[in-house]
Amino acid sequence: MTKPHFYITTAISYVNGPPHIGHAYEAIGADVMARFKRLDGFDVYFLTGTDEHGQKVQKTAIAKGKQPQEFCDEIAALFINMCESMNVKFDQFIRTTQDSHKASCQAIWGKMQEAGDIYLNKYAGWYSERDEAFYGEDELEERDGKKYTTTNTEVHWMEEESYFFKLSAYTDKLLAYYEEHPDFIQPAFRKNEVVSFVKQGLKDLSISRTSFDWGVKVPNSKDHIMYVWVDALTNYISALGYPEDKGGNFRKYWPADVHLIGKDIMRFHAIYWPAFLMSAGLELPKRVFGHGFLLTKGEKMSKSLGNVISPQDLIDRFGVDQTRYGLMREATFGQDGDISYELLGNRINAELANNLGNLAQRTLSQIAKNCDGKVPNPGILEDADHHLLDKAGQAMLIAVRGEFERLQFSKAIEEIVQVANAANLYIDEMAPWTLKKTDTERMATVLYVLAEVIRNLGLIMQPFTPVAANKILDQVAVSPDARDFSFIGAAHALEAGTPLPKPEGVFPRYVHEEAEQAQEKTA
Ligand code: MSP
Repeated sequence: MTKPHFYITTAISYVNGPPHIGHAYEAIGADVMARFKRLDGFDVYFLTGTDEHGQKVQKTAIAKGKQPQEFCDEIAALFINMCESMNVKFDQFIRTTQDSHKASCQAIWGKMQEAGDIYLNKYAGWYSERDEAFYGEDELEERDGKKYTTTNTEVHWMEEESYFFKLSAYTDKLLAYYEEHPDFIQPAFRKNEVVSFVKQGLKDLSISRTSFDWGVKVPNSKDHIMYVWVDALTNYISALGYPEDKGGNFRKYWPADVHLIGKDIMRFHAIYWPAFLMSAGLELPKRVFGHGFLLTKGEKMSKSLGNVISPQDLIDRFGVDQTRYGLMREATFGQDGDISYELLGNRINAELANNLGNLAQRTLSQIAKNCDGKVPNPGILEDADHHLLDKAGQAMLIAVRGEFERLQFSKAIEEIVQVANAANLYIDEMAPWTLKKTDTERMATVLYVLAEVIRNLGLIMQPFTPVAANKILDQVAVSPDARDFSFIGAAHALEAGTPLPKPEGVFPRYVHEEAEQAQEKTA
């Protein structure tokens, strides 16, 4: 049977500086989703990468005394490392300076031109290098004789000859599309922002530059390079081999199931990109999901505020699995979320160490001591046993899957935590350590039920904490080829008598540093 396809992408990151926590957050979110879908029977393609053109990159490279390409190579390597260190398993890391990508940009440009949507004119306006975007007078604030966008980036007046894309012709088409595809933009409140923006009417978009040359050349033009967003957005199809499609990936995976991006670049993905695709006669992605920003104590992280938490800081402090879990758990995906070492540490201790880790540790050590280190032989199951097993089986998978459909990772974890809570209550109530003296058969049943719950929990935790979850599965002797979600539930329950390895804790407690606690108290 051929598996259904699932294509997920992150935004491609600017190479102005090394990866920060926002980049890690997005990459982990996409990886968690990709892993879930793979385990749930999908043929997944997961794309991430770097956005390497633009005036800012060229200037930064020159300021550092480097060639732009050399500079891009160095920074792109840092992003690849960040993915590796966070255990983010992409299928491709695309870089917009690749020749194949450039050819693809020229192909989509050609299609938009054939459709009559590109014309040459002159552009004059306020341009932000930071955002690589023009702003209207009404979107700007003036301070000390300089003009700034509402996000506080400076703009400069720019005049040049430019190719334009007839975005204005797409106002009604886009509105009709949003109407017919209510799930296209998520979360829903972000859709309202986009729709009201489009309803004001769209202006044609300047899509080429002549004032610098670090970009993809416009076909048949000596002086023009493409506006960086035309180039950047095309990564989603160039990575699949558009237009030749030699490997067949474009046919197979396009349209994307979800473009996972931050809320700040919603407009580019929900307005420009669909308009370009409509113009080029290509299908539109099924969904654009805008996640929120990570903040510390309600504030944006910035070097000047001295509150930057780097991806590596988190790994050094908590470990990779714990960092992934903490970030996916702490903030509701789609909303802004506050993180601090204290918050993450508390969460990791409460849910990974005390709840899940402790459940596995106490169950497996009792099995090691009292059941000859083998999966115990269950007697007749009582109502409480059935109840817990049902909760940890298909019911858990269905609930978690439902949350994943909406990329609600924290809620998905909540479902899993509920099952672990129930199992911890069950072990306290059944008190197998007492049964050991009074009723060893019942003790074996209770420990069997718990081991089976742990197997299911290990399976479902894989997207969030891949290494630890697989260690849990090793400890209940689940074979490597019995770890996808089709093995969740009673049909694949543990076999009594299977020898188990010596149990080991998988989620150590995090010990808060004193300075961190003092800082929290004074906050
Ligand atoms: N290069 C463009 C995207 C082009 S996609 C065709 C860009 N790059 S970026 O490096 O500035 O941002 C990459 C992603 O990281 C974006 O989705 C952005 O929203 C996200 N984040 C940047 N800072 C963030 C936080 N503090 N928190 C969460 N995500 C944030 O935009």
